[in-house]
Amino acid sequence: MAPLDAKKVLARAVIFLGPPGAGKGTQAKLVAEKLRVPHLSTGDMLRENVGKGTELGRVAKPVMERGDLVPDDLILRMVEDRIARPDAANGFVFDGFPRTLAQAEALNRILERQDFGPPVVIFFRVADDILMRRLAGRRVCRVCSEIYNVYDRPPKVEGRCDLDGGELIQRDDDRAEVVRERLAAYNRQTKPLVEYYRSQGMLDEIDAAAGMAAVTDSVFGVLGQPKGRA
Ligand code: AP5
Repeated sequence: MAPLDAKKVLARAVIFLGPPGAGKGTQAKLVAEKLRVPHLSTGDMLRENVGKGTELGRVAKPVMERGDLVPDDLILRMVEDRIARPDAANGFVFDGFPRTLAQAEALNRILERQDFGPPVVIFFRVADDILMRRLAGRRVCRVCSEIYNVYDRPPKVEGRCDLDGGELIQRDDDRAEVVRERLAAYNRQTKPLVEYYRSQGMLDEIDAAAGMAAVTDSVFGVLGQPKGRA
């Protein structure tokens, strides 16, 4: 693993880019904890809004159930509010954002306004058959959202979270027919961001089909020496 200079990474936005089930959330939790910066998952924020029945949640719910993307303006307002909070002053790890070209371009402007440098962008590369298996096997804690997998990361006690004993549930959008829609939305709207960031010399790519520990090593290897920077 390349040595990690935390100072170089801390005041930056880190973006985990990749298809549904690539392992972005799993790794973002670990990395954010290690760097002591917030893990900002737009999916988790939206699910929280849906759970609380807020106005945003009411708009997002049917969109998420179809596997489509929530409109850019709603996402951008939510993200800008979140990163203006004091705990994000030293940086953050984005998981699931940006997801469209419009979001990426708006993020550049937001980062500039809030005095952040250019983001570190890590693309999680995984083949579709592996994604389908991971999403079919995923279970999450109803209480703390910890992520498990019945095949690759089972809990110690079946159906219960190791951390707080909460019930493990399957996400509504992990049903096979919704997963197909989510993959289609990814290919249509999010995959072009790979080329967008690559063409600016900002994309770091990792083999995210590897085991979880190997992927963690790859992520920290990139964070120690992101592309385009000394
Ligand atoms: P979101 O919650 O962001 O879902 P996603 O991007 O589709 O990603 P996932 O959470 O499904 O996968 P992941 O890559 O985090 O994988 P995980 O670590 O869990 O978005 C949900 C919805 O919200 C969207 O469809 C959209 O409607 C809306 N939305 C969110 N953000 C938006 C935005 N910016 N704009 C518009 N709409 C937005 O891992 C998956 C499974 O694999 C787990 O079971 C895990 O244990 C296992 N696993 C992980 N890594 C490995 C490994 N290396 N080996 C084996 N198993 C592994």
